[in-house]
Amino acid sequence: MEITSLFFFLVPLFFPLHLSPTTSAASFAAPYSSHCHDYESSALWLFKESFTIDTSASSHPEASPKVESWHLQEGGGGDCCSWDGVECDNITGHVIGLDLRSSGLSGYIDSHNSLFQLIHLQYLNLADNDFLESPIPSGLGHLSKLTHLNLSFSGFSGQIPSNISDLIHLLSLDLSENDNLILKNSDFNTLVKNLVSLEVLHLDYVDISSEVPHIFANSPSLTSLSLVSCRLRGEFPTGILQLPTLEVLYLDDNENLRAATFFRKS
Ligand SMILES: *[C@@H]1O[C@H](CO)[C@@H](O)[C@H](O)[C@H]1NC(C)=O
Ligand SMILES: *[C@@H]1O[C@H](CO)[C@@H](O)[C@H](O)[C@H]1NC(C)=O
Ligand SMILES: *[C@@H]1O[C@H](CO)[C@@H](O)[C@H](O)[C@H]1NC(C)=O
Repeated sequence: MEITSLFFFLVPLFFPLHLSPTTSAASFAAPYSSHCHDYESSALWLFKESFTIDTSASSHPEASPKVESWHLQEGGGGDCCSWDGVECDNITGHVIGLDLRSSGLSGYIDSHNSLFQLIHLQYLNLADNDFLESPIPSGLGHLSKLTHLNLSFSGFSGQIPSNISDLIHLLSLDLSENDNLILKNSDFNTLVKNLVSLEVLHLDYVDISSEVPHIFANSPSLTSLSLVSCRLRGEFPTGILQLPTLEVLYLDDNENLRAATFFRKS
C-alpha cells in the first residue's frame, strides 16, 4: 500500500534548552556572574557582520531583527551574554545558545565563518533566514556539543555534509524546507546509526532518494519523525511504528514508499 497521507497525529512539541547538570547548579549563582569571553563576542560580531539584514529574507521577521540591538563597547569587547538571542552558561560564561530564527539574515555562510568558533554551543537555531543557497557548512562538525540544531526554511542547498553525523549529542535536528538539499544514502544510514539520542528528526523536502534504514527501529528515544517529500522508496520498516516513544510521523508525498501495514492513530 502506498503511504499518501500523514498518519499519527501532531502533538505540539516544545523543546526548551536542555541544560547540563553543571549549568543547572548555576541557579545559585548571581545573575550577572557571566560575562562573555572576548573571542566569543568577536566571533558573534563577525558572524553578524557577514550578513546583510533584510526583513524580507524571513517569512516571519521579528519586529526588529535581534542582531540590530547588538553593540560592541569601546575598545572592541562587548558583553555578548546580554545580546538578544544569545545565551551563556552562568558559570563558565561560554555561549551555549544562539537563537536567531526569523532574524532577516541574508548572506552566504561557509566553513570559515566565525560561527564555528563557538564550540560550546548546545542550541543553534537559524531557521527562516536566507543563506542564498549556501551548502550547509561542514564546519558544523566543530560544534560537537550541539543538542538542538534548526536550519529549516533557510535557503540552504546542495549535499548535506557527512559531518552532521559527528554531532552525536543531537536531540533535535530540523533541516526541513530548504530548496535543494540532498542527503546521500550512505550518509542517511550513518546519521541514523550515530545520532542515537535523536528525539526529533525533520528532513521534509530533503532529497534522500533511498530506502528508510531499518536501524531506525532501534532509535531509543525518537518521538517525532517527519520525512515529507523526501523521495523515499522501498518498504517502510514496520519496526519504527512500534517504537514506544514515537508520537509524530509524517511521510506524505513519497510515492514510491510502501508500508506493509497502514494504521492511523488518533
Ligand atoms: C542563568 O541565570 C539566570 C538568572 O538567575 C536564569 O534565569 C537562567 O535560567 C540561568 N541560565 C542558565 C543557562 O543556567
Ligand atoms: C525549527 O524552526 C522553525 C521555524 O521557526 C519551526 O517552525 C520548527 O518547528 C522548528 N523545528 C523544531 C524541530 O523545533
Ligand atoms: C568533515 O568531514 C570530512 C570527511 O569526513 C573531514 O575530512 C573534515 O575534516 C570534517 N570537517 C570538520 C570541520 O569537521
